[in-house]
Amino acid sequence: MLFTELPTPQVLVDRTRLLANLDRMQADADAHRVRLRPHAKTHKIPDVARWQMDRGAVGICCAKIGEAEVFADAGIEDIRLPYPVNPRNASRLLALMDRCRVSIIVDHPAVARGWSEVMRAAGRSLDVLIKVDVGSHRCGIDPAPPAGLSFVRLVSGLPGLRLRGLLSHAGHGYGAESERALAAVARDEAEMLRGLGDEARRDGISIEEISVGATPTARFSVAEPGVTELRPGTYAYFDRTQVAFGAARLDDCALTVLAMVVSKPTPDRIVLDCGSKTLTNDPPHGYDHPRGFGAVFANLDATSIAADLAIDRLSEEHAVVTVASGSTPLEPGDLVRVLPNHVCPVSNLVDCVRLIEGRQVMETMTVAARGKIA
Ligand SMILES: Cc1ncc(COP(=O)(O)O)c(C=O)c1O
Repeated sequence: MLFTELPTPQVLVDRTRLLANLDRMQADADAHRVRLRPHAKTHKIPDVARWQMDRGAVGICCAKIGEAEVFADAGIEDIRLPYPVNPRNASRLLALMDRCRVSIIVDHPAVARGWSEVMRAAGRSLDVLIKVDVGSHRCGIDPAPPAGLSFVRLVSGLPGLRLRGLLSHAGHGYGAESERALAAVARDEAEMLRGLGDEARRDGISIEEISVGATPTARFSVAEPGVTELRPGTYAYFDRTQVAFGAARLDDCALTVLAMVVSKPTPDRIVLDCGSKTLTNDPPHGYDHPRGFGAVFANLDATSIAADLAIDRLSEEHAVVTVASGSTPLEPGDLVRVLPNHVCPVSNLVDCVRLIEGRQVMETMTVAARGKIA
């Protein structure tokens, strides 16, 4: 079947581009002797995780226990949750530990003590990494002395916990205004983790892992001394944001949305059938502040962007596209492909994606971990 025969909107994944992305990141990690542990929240598909593992990934990351349960059911043997999982989830985490190797992060004394209690009572030992705030100011401990080291000391002394190392996510890289600023985010991140790691080691505490992860910074982080693990997720598909940060070229982008023109109220305005329920409301990011809720390709082969089309407005089922040149040959019934600003939440909104080669649909893949937010 050709993708042009599918009902719209539809999420397409170009197999050649996807596999090339997996190969390239793995080769880069291997060349620098850094372990790759992709974040599976981008695709949420066990087969894609298996392809990542087959290429040399040491395991995967999942955001939540529910997501991890899906991948454990599918036979993924090593799952890290770089999310502050609360001990209220003890029974599910213990059950997960029976099925695969599990590690989590901790960044709060009460939570760390809570997990220690759970593991002690269960006669188990849980691998943990300390989440460090390297500038995104979401989760994580302040690595500065003396607070940083005192938290590391606390965790390393808690029974039932096995401190593996330090972990960070440089989410603030998504606010970088230039390639130089982005490179500095990656450099500072590694420097902060190295600093705290060295302090801990001088204190006699073993820090085996320094884990960093974000797709825009991955190409800089991989060469940073001391970094042992990369956790990018978005690199599997890439998206408009990654292109705007120089992490990918347009023809690396594997996930696109196939949409139909459903209305043309004026010559300079068309409406597509992919609203926020498909593209999500995620705003654009990038050095040059791109505009709109995704980019419309100039052709169905997804090789160039239609520069005069901007997706300026979304409602749930409508994408309102402004035509800068004043007119477009596109008419109701015509198909277009759209590059989302951010692919991860797009995956979360569909039951399946269509794996394509050229215009041929090769396979329908179930997004098994979609909606597993708990
Ligand atoms: C903790 C953590 N690690 C890794 C990643 C992967 O980063 P990216 O989406 O930039 O590939 C994320 C993404 O949100 C994350 O939150």
